Amino acid sequence: MPIPERLNPPFAPARSRTADRLDEARKRLIVALDVPDAASAAALVDRLENTCQWFKVGLELFVAAGPAVLEPLLSRGHSVFLDLKFNDIPNTVAGAVRSAAGLGVRMLTVHASGGPAMLAAARAALEGLPDPPELLAVTVLTSMDAAQVNAIGLKREPASQVELLAKMGLEAGVHGFVCSPQEVGRLRALTGQEGVLVIPGIRPAGAAVGDQKRIATPAEALRMGASYLVVGRPITQAPDPAEAAEAILREMAEAIEFPTAK
Ligand code: C5P
Repeated sequence: MPIPERLNPPFAPARSRTADRLDEARKRLIVALDVPDAASAAALVDRLENTCQWFKVGLELFVAAGPAVLEPLLSRGHSVFLDLKFNDIPNTVAGAVRSAAGLGVRMLTVHASGGPAMLAAARAALEGLPDPPELLAVTVLTSMDAAQVNAIGLKREPASQVELLAKMGLEAGVHGFVCSPQEVGRLRALTGQEGVLVIPGIRPAGAAVGDQKRIATPAEALRMGASYLVVGRPITQAPDPAEAAEAILREMAEAIEFPTAK
């Protein structure tokens, strides 16, 4: 997806490899706007808008502020990931996916654990749309460790549950997944280069872990095959969110490889 013109000025001086890498990093960093109301979201976006291209709107903000909260993001040229993690019967999820697609978002989520029929219905709901958002199936939440996974009756490690759900998703025609950094390498091997792998649970070295369990640094996650990184609190709760985002972008840029010309 192209970055907006104001982040890519036409009269910029000759660009170095570092600038190219930073631009590439900017296309792959998604800031989670986990805030309680539209005013807090607007304040964060004001501070980040010259640094970040993508914003994720999740349950907290969407439930409080409704679809209107997307409009200022979209009108400023930002890309929006609507992370509502639908999980319901196929007919209901298909309707919700159609409604979400109509809001102009570029990515949306359903829970893979809703099963193959639900995933197929979600995928079918996007068929025929002129510019559909990427459908992502959430595998196992990054906040769940083995004890949490076992507690819901699954007698296997989170990684093997993630792999099982991803194989099921691929068979249902879904090519985008959300998983933790710990499984991204296995999923990249499963999906090949076509897979869109969106990775939360990102913590720069020294950042507070909070409730996340299966984590990695931005550079590690990219090197293991992530397409996009989702970062919330390490940016949004930093004293200077733009500076925290820039530091993460620099770390991402170092991990981005461009194919060398032959
Ligand atoms: O603040 P933090 O960086 O932990 O935020 C991570 C974001 O990614 C949150 O918005 C959370 O809802 C989301 N997420 C996650 N694990 C998943 C899917 C989404 O943490 N499996």
